[in-house]
Order: sequence, then structure tokens, then C-alpha cells
Amino acid sequence: LSAASAALALTVSAGAVSAACDDGEIVVKFSHVTNTDKHPKGIAASLLQERVNEEMDGKMCMEVFPNSTLYNDDQVLEAMLQGDVQLAAPSLSKFENFTKVFRIFDLPFMFENIDAVDSFQASDAGQDMLDSMQRRGLQGLGFWHNGMKQFSANVPLLEPSDAEGLKFRVQTSDVLVAQMEALGASPQPMAFSEVYGALQTGVVDGQENTWSNIYGQKFFEVQDGITETNHGIIDYLLVASSDWLDSLEPDVRDQFMTIVAEVTETRNAESYNVNQENRQAIIDAGGEVRELSAEQRQAWVDAMRPVWDQFVEDVGQDNIDAAQSHNS
Ligand code: LMR
Repeated sequence: LSAASAALALTVSAGAVSAACDDGEIVVKFSHVTNTDKHPKGIAASLLQERVNEEMDGKMCMEVFPNSTLYNDDQVLEAMLQGDVQLAAPSLSKFENFTKVFRIFDLPFMFENIDAVDSFQASDAGQDMLDSMQRRGLQGLGFWHNGMKQFSANVPLLEPSDAEGLKFRVQTSDVLVAQMEALGASPQPMAFSEVYGALQTGVVDGQENTWSNIYGQKFFEVQDGITETNHGIIDYLLVASSDWLDSLEPDVRDQFMTIVAEVTETRNAESYNVNQENRQAIIDAGGEVRELSAEQRQAWVDAMRPVWDQFVEDVGQDNIDAAQSHNS
């Protein structure tokens, strides 16, 4: 090995949780963008890998590539359709080029908490969404939870007017662009892996994300503080290509799908707790967490809630009504 290829080998093995697949095993590359520890998606991906590699030894072999080491979310779905990666779990905000039905999950203040998201997804309307991209060659295997989003910026955010004129990184979602425009802020769509640097250098002033992402990516270190708005959600679609799923022998596919369903249920039940641990970890590390009074929070609702009107036609009033019926 030359020094350069040794260094490359080290980098690759640090990125992939390598499972050293055997000849004859179906190799499943799972690419995602978050950290693995203390993260709802990272933990779920690791558990899935562990179970597949134990229970399907000799048949299937999974390798997880976290932290955007293989692809970022803007590339991964195309890579999947090319057959370069078999599994991914982008946030529901990242399917804009494939379907508009997931826009409902980005509408601000649509869901009160992750339990409401869970029960909406379990309903017929939610389950139908797993199949919404079949025409485009993608099959949803299940919804994976992260949690509620919070705002952070390089200045304190207490009133919606505090966000006016600031640049906020958003995921690549038209709803999130409209949401920031409703606040008089300037939305900057950007890949997750670039956010820390953009906050640090002042390319953007703020961002919105869950406690686990704010802690996992250390955003709190380069922000004035985090305001506990719980104004939206980040949730994921565990997704594969229809071609790849169809290529599996029925018994292999069934065993794989059973493990997927069990991991999904087990880890979704913990996502709230994982995020609360990250919230506490931010505080313990000296990050500033600002809580809003009921009156202050209502002002954020009033400012952002009108965004729904722009997207009713895309998501359907019936879906909005259904989603709302799952709030307590
Ligand atoms: C983001 O881009 O902020 C999130 O979708 C990242 C993630 O996967 O949680």
C-alpha cells in the first residue's frame, strides 16, 4: 500500500461501519447523512445493520455509510436509481423532485408532536404515501422518526420579527422556503453537510433542526442560542429502489422486510427520548436554550401558519384534515 492508498483505506473504513461481506451475499449499501451515536436515524441504521448481518448471514450483508461519507441527500436518490446504493433514509423534505405528497410534513405547526406524526403515518392516508413514488422507481419501506424542529440563529430569536432579514439554511423544500419568506427571512437551501461551515463563516445566520441534529452537528457552538419553537418536524422515509426490491427472492425480501418493520417500531418508540437527551446535552455543553411564553409562541404560529394556504392544492385539504385529527 502506498501512503496515499493507506490513508484512503483508513478514511473509507472510518466512514463505513464495514461488515466485510462474504462472496454470494447480497450487498446492501445504506447511505445517510447524520452521526451514528445518540441520533434517532444513526441508531436505527446501526441496529438494522446489526440485525441483518446476524440474522441473514450468508444471504445478505449490510454496510452503513453515515455522515454523508458516501452521498449527500441531493445525490443519494439518483445514486439509488443507478443501483449504486440500495438503502437511504432522507428526510421527507428531500423528495421534492419525486413527489409533492410529503409537503404536508413540512407545513409549520401541522403536527403537535411526533406521536401525532406517527399515528397519521399509520393511517391509510399515511401508508398510501409509502407507495407514492412507485412510478418513479422508488418504494418507501417505512417512516423513521427524528423529532420536532427548533430555530437557532446568531442573535436571540424570541419574536418572529427577530428573524426578519436574516439568512436561514433550509432543506431543499419549497414549503420551507415559503415558511422562511413568511417570516421575512431569506431562505438558503443547502446540503446538511455544509451547514456547520456556513453558520461558522456567516454565510447564513441561522437554521432550523431537531435537538439531535443541532447537537450531533454542533450547530449550537456557532449560534447565539436555540429557541424551543417545536414549529415543525423532521421525519424520514426509509427508501429502496423498486428494481432492487423486485430482484430479491421472495423469502429473502420477506425476512428483510420483517427486520425493517421491527427495527422501525423499536427505534421510533425511542426517538422522542433520544432528542430530549440531545437537548440536555446541548445545555450541559453550555448551549443556550430559550423557551417561549405561550404568547410568544402564538406569534410564531400567526406568522407561519398562513403558509398552508399556498400548498393546500399540493397536499389536499383531506390530508390536512386527516393530519389535524391526529393532534390531541
Ligand atoms: C437536514 O438536512 O437538516 C436533515 O434532513 C438531516 C437529517 O437527515 O436529519
